[in-house]
Amino acid sequence: MTKFITFASAKGGVGKTVVSFNVAIALSQFKHDVVYIDANFSVPNVAILIGYHNPPITLNDVMEGKKHISDAMYLHPSKLRIVPLSLSYEHSKRINPEKIHDVVLDLVGSAEFVILDSGSGLGNDVRNVIKASDEVIAITTPELLAVTGTYRTVQLADELGIKVSGAVLNNISGDEYDMSKENIESILEVPVIESIPHDNVVRKAYRQKQPFVYVYPHSKASLAIKRLAARILGQKYEAPLPENKTKLDVFLEKLRK
Ligand SMILES: Nc1ncnc2c1ncn2[C@@H]1O[C@H](COP(=O)(O)OP(=O)(O)O)[C@@H](O)[C@H]1O
Ligand SMILES: [Mg+2]
Repeated sequence: MTKFITFASAKGGVGKTVVSFNVAIALSQFKHDVVYIDANFSVPNVAILIGYHNPPITLNDVMEGKKHISDAMYLHPSKLRIVPLSLSYEHSKRINPEKIHDVVLDLVGSAEFVILDSGSGLGNDVRNVIKASDEVIAITTPELLAVTGTYRTVQLADELGIKVSGAVLNNISGDEYDMSKENIESILEVPVIESIPHDNVVRKAYRQKQPFVYVYPHSKASLAIKRLAARILGQKYEAPLPENKTKLDVFLEKLRK
């Protein structure tokens, strides 16, 4: 069975795009068959992230009925199949968000997971993407305005009858001004399933036009992304031990920090 998971938050800038994309890569690195869809119809991102600015066939062509979804897939070296949107403003204006349902139907049985990035807000575009999913992962940063914005998304998913399987806390600074996990869970009414720290590899990886989990696999943010991917698989991620080190060495190093 194909599972369709949308990363969503009404609040912009919380990490929907970077987290969903890196999780999709991590799932592929774990040898699962995954399709990643850029479903932020008004502000497309994935083509920019991978430096593929002019893909000849895009999700726009598929949604306009001109091409089949399989023609709009680009294979990343991790084996992730990526479906980008056109970066053209004129193409964006023509999109009918309801067509995402046909796209999703066409993908049933063709992958284990389909990960969808969605736009911000609660508009018709986001509603249709959420409605087309099996589940939503809500994503927020540990700040009041982000959490309250994300709660709107939880409410929207509830209204549409789509399960919110958990919340991800992203871009955690670790200082005293971050809201606590417990506080955020009590507002969102969903469990926090992973916490991703602020990490400069997110920006460093932009320069390489690659997802950070691919080019900086041992960074703090990448480890959190891999734990989240494992959680989606119903597994626990154990980071590999550094070369020539035992579990005891790593534990003693942690104590000395
Ligand atoms: N864990 C993180 N560490 C550092 N910067 C981050 C992290 N997550 C997100 N960012 C920054 O926040 C910006 C917004 O993330 P993005 O995924 O575009 O948000 P959204 O899709 O929700 O609008 C990114 O451009 C990135 O620079
Ligand atoms: Mg985004």
